[in-house]
Amino acid sequence: MLIGPLRLNFTRVLDADEVLDQVVEAEDRRERATGDRRDGNALHLPYWAELWDSSIGMGQMLVKWQTGDLDRLLPKPSKSLSFLDLGCGQGLSGTVAAALGHNVLLGDLEAPALLFARLNTLMYESRARVRRLNWQTDDLGERFDAILGADVLYERAQWEYLERFWRAHLGPTGAVLLGEPGRQSGDVFQEWIGPRGWSLERFTERATTGKQIRLFRLQSLSV
Ligand SMILES: C[S@@+](CC[C@H](N)C(=O)[O-])C[C@H]1O[C@@H](n2cnc3c(N)ncnc32)[C@H](O)[C@@H]1O
Repeated sequence: MLIGPLRLNFTRVLDADEVLDQVVEAEDRRERATGDRRDGNALHLPYWAELWDSSIGMGQMLVKWQTGDLDRLLPKPSKSLSFLDLGCGQGLSGTVAAALGHNVLLGDLEAPALLFARLNTLMYESRARVRRLNWQTDDLGERFDAILGADVLYERAQWEYLERFWRAHLGPTGAVLLGEPGRQSGDVFQEWIGPRGWSLERFTERATTGKQIRLFRLQSLSV
């Protein structure tokens, strides 16, 4: 897979709909057997199985930053920074950061996603870690220079959890980078986050899939 000039060995799910069908069928069988109906978060829909355009656009922007074409994104990459790829799915954004020489933790709620994230970062295992995490409840006990979130803003109900998680895990001069594919929720988010003590800078990037991606760069105003 090519991300700008960067060639990656990247393994991904070929047909995300097939994974969704399997999850739904398994849930139907479980419901018939137990009589217990689940919805919402408890359903564990496999959003991780899609490779979202936002992670491709995010990867492209990281490459531009590393090669000096997007200096404003993060501090100069003269030394290796620490990254968290939050809600990493199959791990493309984090894999790009690792391939560029940075230390990366890739985290997701869904265990199958982590198998892909692990496989995709095996080449960089000296600097890439993978772990299961829940941004609603976990405290990792460490802080990062940059927290990446490719397509994690789609559900309004998650924003309070995400904002609290970013605050607890961002280093003092760090930035949160959010890839967003132009959904209405992304428009609302920009209004929502300002009064909570964050500055927001917006970038755009056309992913190789043709989709225009917005990238929101957040920095805490309270440092
Ligand atoms: C739309 S997908 C984006 C995946 C990946 N970043 C990409 O762009 O291809 C959202 C991801 O967030 C993960 N996620 C959802 N809720 C989460 C939570 N509470 N904690 C950690 N990850 C979560 C999902 O499992 C999924 O992988």
